[in-house]
Amino acid sequence: MLDVSSWTPDSWRTKPARQMPEYPDSKYLGEIESQLGNFPPLVFAGEIRTLRDQLAAVAEGKAFLLQGGDCAESFAEHSANNIRDTLRVLLQMALVLTYAAAMPVVKVGRIAGQFAKPRSEPTETKDGVELPSYRGDIINGIAFDADARKFDPHRQLRAYRQAAASLNLIRAFIQGGYADLHMAHRWNLDFLTDSPAGARYEEIALRISESLAFMQACGITSANTPQLRSADFFTSHEALLLGYEQALTRTDSVTGDWYTTSAHMVWIGDRTRQPDGAHVEFARGVHNPVGLKCGPSLKPDELLDLIDILNPKNVAGRLVLICRFGADKVEAHLPDLVRAVAREGKKVVWSCDPMHGNTIKSSNGYKTRPFDRILKELRAFMSVHRAEGTYAGGVHFEMTGQNVTECLGGAQDIGEENLSDRYHTHCDPRLNANQALELAFLIAGELRREGSLHVSDGRITGFC
Ligand code: PEP
Ligand code: CO
Repeated sequence: MLDVSSWTPDSWRTKPARQMPEYPDSKYLGEIESQLGNFPPLVFAGEIRTLRDQLAAVAEGKAFLLQGGDCAESFAEHSANNIRDTLRVLLQMALVLTYAAAMPVVKVGRIAGQFAKPRSEPTETKDGVELPSYRGDIINGIAFDADARKFDPHRQLRAYRQAAASLNLIRAFIQGGYADLHMAHRWNLDFLTDSPAGARYEEIALRISESLAFMQACGITSANTPQLRSADFFTSHEALLLGYEQALTRTDSVTGDWYTTSAHMVWIGDRTRQPDGAHVEFARGVHNPVGLKCGPSLKPDELLDLIDILNPKNVAGRLVLICRFGADKVEAHLPDLVRAVAREGKKVVWSCDPMHGNTIKSSNGYKTRPFDRILKELRAFMSVHRAEGTYAGGVHFEMTGQNVTECLGGAQDIGEENLSDRYHTHCDPRLNANQALELAFLIAGELRREGSLHVSDGRITGFC
């Protein structure tokens, strides 16, 4: 599928690599990487191809992509409750979107491996003390002390094991009946039931229960219809720490193709997408679906170059362009990119990350994101696509199932004075469960109102 004649899993090592830690002991690093190289794959090529096929349907306007989860997973907050709560809010959001848009929703978590972070500054200074920046739990610790901030390769083993345990639980939830549509009522978290979004969700869950009861009377049950019983759910993270990714890169015995088995989908960050850089080099050779973050500095020609490098055979489902411009910059940047891609007939999924271009500092010193700005970017993204006649195929959120207070606004009207109540993120501020569900309803409304889809009697009858 790819033209990878000159590619090897380690060919990235000959290219300039940004945002990678310089480990003090390269011999120890090598030992860790070779241990990882012997560990079992976390995901399998067949699953990755299923995701690619589902993303191909998104690229063709027949499905919608929902990608979300933590900005950075942490070792300290690894718990069954956290995983379950993230999963169930994603399932709730997917249900709302499926119901409203009457089309399949491809569910991809930023989970089970989202540990490495690019940073704007290499060091952090507090009270005159300068230390290396925190780069995610797979690289160093978040505590502001010299020991924690050391780059420690051993953390990669811990990250691998945490990813494996998270995936194990996710698979059990998904295959063990938790994702059964009959459970839709139970996905509503306690603290959601009192909120407007929670109440609206209850209504949909009730209608679905009624439909399921009717279907059961007609003989369609979870026992004879697997689609009711389980859902596909995929994992993703930023492929930033390339030694780790390389160690988990394996050939598929069926096709002979290379895949990184650290996650179903990986993406390239906005800071590491140089066409001749190490991250693009690594990603071009693995056959996983690849996301490419597109920020305001990306020019149409550069995007077309990157598309040619990453998807030379123009395979639908291979490439997801994750746009993150900032609410006020979408109109200035997105149309040119969309036109260039359409003109060249490139098959891509257009997804909107309304988080990363809308980060501000509150007057009391918190890194936060206003809900209104997030929604504004989403609306602008959709209206550009509508104007260009292209398909706004997905969304990418930093969110959690916990009732945190990290982003401002939403129906709970979180103000600056509330941010300190439950501000737990290890990196960027996340939508809480209420805000995430509220956004799902707003997107669902947008999909209809903006007329991206022609809906008649609750059914889609075509696209604009
Ligand atoms: C991220 O997704 O957490 C991230 C760092 O994004 P970006 O590369 O778009 O800044
Ligand atoms: Co982030």
